[in-house]
Amino acid sequence: MAGAPGVFVTGTGTEVGKTVVAAVLARTLAEKGKSVAVFKPAVTGLEEEGETDHALLRRASDSSQSDEEIAPYRYQPPASPHLAAALAGDEIDPERLRQAASQAAVGADAIVCEGVGGFLVPLSPTYLVRDLAVDLGYPLVIVASPGLGAINHTLLTLESARAAGLEVAAVVLNPWPEDPSEIERSNRETIAERGQVRVEALPRLDLAEPSSWPPLHLPTN
Ligand SMILES: Nc1ncnc2c1ncn2[C@@H]1O[C@H](COP(=O)(O)OP(=O)(O)OP(=O)(O)O)[C@@H](O)[C@H]1O
Ligand SMILES: [Mg+2]
Repeated sequence: MAGAPGVFVTGTGTEVGKTVVAAVLARTLAEKGKSVAVFKPAVTGLEEEGETDHALLRRASDSSQSDEEIAPYRYQPPASPHLAAALAGDEIDPERLRQAASQAAVGADAIVCEGVGGFLVPLSPTYLVRDLAVDLGYPLVIVASPGLGAINHTLLTLESARAAGLEVAAVVLNPWPEDPSEIERSNRETIAERGQVRVEALPRLDLAEPSSWPPLHLPTN
């Protein structure tokens, strides 16, 4: 997609830390003095407690975008977006997503997008998160938990991304423990080697205090 450079943050599944990693990437750019836009195609699970993904992304990036501008589709149940939309009598329109992402990037120096769940989650019955990533064309960041299962989940996601022609800027292992176990250290090396990919590690953060977050630099930003 033409316009501001961007990144698309996906993960090996739900709750692996995509929002946190996207927030840190956005913060890193904002602290370099860039005007950063954030985008998330759909947010589900609004009925659950806690800060929403769009609110954390907005706070981290110092963006003044509205909820609607960050996340054009927002649903109450914590379900896959295609199902959450159907339960609301709705269907997510890929063209609306492409337009909203492109609109969000207008006037920004960079855009940070977060996917929904894992990489092959359906946004609509015929349009996956991966299809949106391809349409937007930004390099991908894959977030994974560092423990048991990380190698398989991460290599599957890498293969799926590359099969679609996407560039993978980095894998981020999150949260990376202060004192990593042998499995975690070995997973980090194995993913880098078998996946031929840059691997970063993000520690557990105080999410209330973006000024305390370490920067996360990518070759693309
Ligand atoms: N590095 C971290 N430091 C502190 N808390 C973290 C970190 N990574 C993840 N968490 C916490 O773990 C939970 C899941 O993280 P997050 O919301 O970023 O996952 P996600 O992959 O975006 O989930 P979803 O699929 O719902 O969008 C959140 O409660 C978040 O606050
Ligand atoms: Mg999230």
